[in-house]
Amino acid sequence: MSVTAIAHPNIALIKYWGKQAGDGNLPATPSVSITLDDLASTTRLTSSPDADDHITLNGESAIDPKISACLTMLRRDFGIPPVSIDSDNNFPTAAGLASSASGFAALITAIDAFAGLNLQDDDRAVYARRASGSAARSIYGGFATLGPPDWVARPVLTPEAWPLNVVIAITDENRKSVSSSLGMKTSEETSPYYEPWVSSTARDYEAALKAIADRDFERLADLSESSCLKMHGVMQSSQPPMIYWRPATLSCIHAVREMRARGLPVFFTIDAGPQVKAVCLPEAVDRVADALADITGVLSTRTVGLGAGARLLET
Ligand code: DP6
Repeated sequence: MSVTAIAHPNIALIKYWGKQAGDGNLPATPSVSITLDDLASTTRLTSSPDADDHITLNGESAIDPKISACLTMLRRDFGIPPVSIDSDNNFPTAAGLASSASGFAALITAIDAFAGLNLQDDDRAVYARRASGSAARSIYGGFATLGPPDWVARPVLTPEAWPLNVVIAITDENRKSVSSSLGMKTSEETSPYYEPWVSSTARDYEAALKAIADRDFERLADLSESSCLKMHGVMQSSQPPMIYWRPATLSCIHAVREMRARGLPVFFTIDAGPQVKAVCLPEAVDRVADALADITGVLSTRTVGLGAGARLLET
């Protein structure tokens, strides 16, 4: 028996950085994201030939504590036989392009089918969140939220309802040195800005939901850039500091701000890595892609649209 699932990374516009105390991997801050098309994690599950699980990531046999922890978590609730997991990303892994989000959304979706769990979307989103907070949002396409009161990810708008584009500027393809989980803990324990960050996100979240409902690009741009810069302020003021930006990251920020000041509908956002995602309306995408590709230190760009949620490819 073989099951294959695909999921796309999502990019948070209002960011999750920090966790609530206790179990369940509940975020400390509500988040809003867009799920991308084109970039994808494809995960194939087959029965293990022996009593152990086997993990292959991008063609290489791997020991991955987060994947093992995810299997252990699911086995507390369900009977899942030993599995062979074979997962590929068609984009750089663990470099701030949300590979853990797409990876765990695909894995949960594949396990659901493989073990015949018949999970509802809400349940897949809960298990995905427990594996990696941002993965919960990749269960859905288009715009998705992860917020109070129950911290279950939910879809907000389909990709077709507001078809934005994202130009991704790759400035460094290396794996990031600090995992998000460890980084969040470090920020909580050491950044003087952590408390104000957490207490200010509820307002940003509500305002972003309204901007999305109103299709108010300018408002969403202001809120998203602010959320991104506040999160990086927390990261950079942590001890030890997390400075994910490369020189080209900053050059891209300036370029996007200049384009926006000239009236182009574009804004930037950056996650726990050096890549810049320039979110724009379709009419601006060619000019944004050309401008970012010309920047010294930008290794490559990829232009994507909004995509669908995690789903099965074949069984
Ligand atoms: C900066 O979802 O990777 O991308 O729950 O510990 O696995 P864990 O964290 P993760 O953190 C994502 C952080 C972020 C912002 C975001 O996606 O909201």
